[in-house]
Amino acid sequence: MYTEKVMDHFQHPRNVGEIENASGVGTVGNAKCGDIMRIYLDIDDNQIIRDVKFKTFGCGAAVATSSMATELVKGKSVQEAMEVTNKAVMEALDGLPPVKVHCSLLAEEAIHAALWDYAEKHGIKIEGLEKPKADIHEGEEEEAEEY
Ligand code: FES
Repeated sequence: MYTEKVMDHFQHPRNVGEIENASGVGTVGNAKCGDIMRIYLDIDDNQIIRDVKFKTFGCGAAVATSSMATELVKGKSVQEAMEVTNKAVMEALDGLPPVKVHCSLLAEEAIHAALWDYAEKHGIKIEGLEKPKADIHEGEEEEAEEY
C-alpha cells in the first residue's frame, strides 16, 4: 500500500522538532481526521530557508509528507518553496494511496501557513501566497478528486 519512500520517511522522519524564535510558524489541522501539523521556518535576510522543523500529530502519511515537505523546502528561497505543492510532495514520495492524499494537503498548507506568518511579521508579500486555512478539511473533497 505504501511506497518504500513513504515507509522510510514515516519510520525515520527528517527535521522533527521546533525552532526557537522561528521566522515563521504555521499550524494547520484537519477536523475530519483530527490530525495537526506544525512547521517552523528559519529564513535569512536573503529570504532563503536556512532551517525547517516540523511536529505532526497525525497518521503515518502525515508524518511522511511533512518530513518530505521539510526536505524539499530546506535551502530554497521562499518563492521556490511555493512550488512545493502537495503534488510535488507526493511525487517525491513515489505516490500515496488515494485515501491519503489529504495528508499531503496538510503538508502544503502548513508550509503556506508558516510562509504567511513570516510574510506578515516582515511586512512582505510572497507572490501567489494566499491566506491559508487553519482547517484544510473544507474544500478537501474537490481537491482530492483530482488524483
Ligand atoms: Fe488525516 Fe492523514 S489521516 S492527515
